[in-house]
Amino acid sequence: MTAPQDKAAGRRSAVLRREAVLAAVPVAVAALLGATGPATAGTAGASGVGDPYFPLSGNGGFHVEHYDLTLGYDTSSRHLDGTAVLTARATQALSRFDLDLKGLKVTGVTVDRAAATFRRSGQELVVTPRHALRDRQQFTITVRYNGTPAPVTDPDGSADGWVPTDDGAFVAGEPQGSMTWFPSNGHPLDKSTYDFTLTVPKGRTAVANGVLRSEHTANGRTTFRWHQAEPMAAYLATATVGNFQVEKYTTPDGIQVYNAVDPREAKEAAPVLKKLPSVLAWESKLFGPYPFRAAGSIVDHADVGYALETQTRPIYDSAPDLSTLVHESAHQWFGDSVALTSWKDIWLNEGFATYAEWLYSEQHGGDSAQKSFDALYARPASSHLWAFPPGNPGSGANIFDTPVYSRGAMTLHELRRAVGDKAFFRILRDWATVHRGGHGTTAQFIALSERVSGKNLGPLFHTWLHTKGKPAKA
Ligand code: ARG
Ligand code: ZN
Repeated sequence: MTAPQDKAAGRRSAVLRREAVLAAVPVAVAALLGATGPATAGTAGASGVGDPYFPLSGNGGFHVEHYDLTLGYDTSSRHLDGTAVLTARATQALSRFDLDLKGLKVTGVTVDRAAATFRRSGQELVVTPRHALRDRQQFTITVRYNGTPAPVTDPDGSADGWVPTDDGAFVAGEPQGSMTWFPSNGHPLDKSTYDFTLTVPKGRTAVANGVLRSEHTANGRTTFRWHQAEPMAAYLATATVGNFQVEKYTTPDGIQVYNAVDPREAKEAAPVLKKLPSVLAWESKLFGPYPFRAAGSIVDHADVGYALETQTRPIYDSAPDLSTLVHESAHQWFGDSVALTSWKDIWLNEGFATYAEWLYSEQHGGDSAQKSFDALYARPASSHLWAFPPGNPGSGANIFDTPVYSRGAMTLHELRRAVGDKAFFRILRDWATVHRGGHGTTAQFIALSERVSGKNLGPLFHTWLHTKGKPAKA
């Protein structure tokens, strides 16, 4: 863990300690102070949800039910004008709360239409509403902001968030980039529905998640309205802008597909994108019904170095190959529909999406999963593959590293060998079904695997997820 994270973790636990003390103040004191006294004012919401790797991600004390984001982006000046209206619900009495927002200038904040005071502190936008909020109260936060958005650099060195391109912006957010373009409760623990109203110069296309509700051009600018109906973690939101060729159709299963492709990538992308419906149909057979009503792809021409499973519509920084498309599509079940509660559990996303690639190959005339496993297992104990166990990556710098992807997939393969194909595929399907639209933890996955197979799988998972070094042959 890097030094700044240690400091943040220290701050976070100080906050927790303070809250624990406040929570211990007896209810009788509140009664003494009377219903109109300061005791009803609540306490400050925590600055983060306490994720061990990203302690300031997300915020304590409230859940965001819905984001309504109205953004105007000028692709030549790179200026962004934003209004975010968040429908939230308090999970404690709140005297003030934080949102995650990095950079940009905030020009006003209201809570239930009353002006609120606010200040900036690192990635925290600290909001004090005029009136304290009651536990379980629903409230509306409006934040007006503008400026030139810039990405953050993740602990692994990659650019994350609003990444300007020569014709717009490549917008991704895993694990913490959402705060570079909208004020959010930016941890996957919080899932919300979204509306996006995106205005860009005429000729450019603005692509977000979900279904396109309308597209309207006036005075040299085009406004795209997108609606994401199923709950989504903030890191999976996008509002990518560029020069795009657009293709729309509905699959036989009724999924609305919207593909946006940078013309410079179009020729190479076409044969792969053509397979999207069959990939989704194949994955639906294995993992259960596709969890969303919309699908598609964004193929940009950018130098970001990764693709992301942005919900309903993965984003690629250049034309993807078929296994990348299979990988990002599998994330729609594993990662998007079934979300993490902690970044430490990242193998539940990346191990599963990687194993989906192996399965696709196995069932489409390529290498068997066993062969993929064997090729990796042949790597010497000194190989980076065995640098750390996937169930405990150790820091945010490692969450997208080889052990998480490859050894995560190997873990699933070992599970499959231990329980047999029938139980294994039942486990995958049940996992996606039981936690659909919600969250899942590693402990819950192990419990489900044991329930379905009737086997004690503790040792297997302990070896593959949590034990340092190359596991001995089973
Ligand atoms: N989840 C993405 C994938 O499908 C990787 C995102 C990498 N992000 C990053 N900041 N390094 O593999
Ligand atoms: Zn992935």
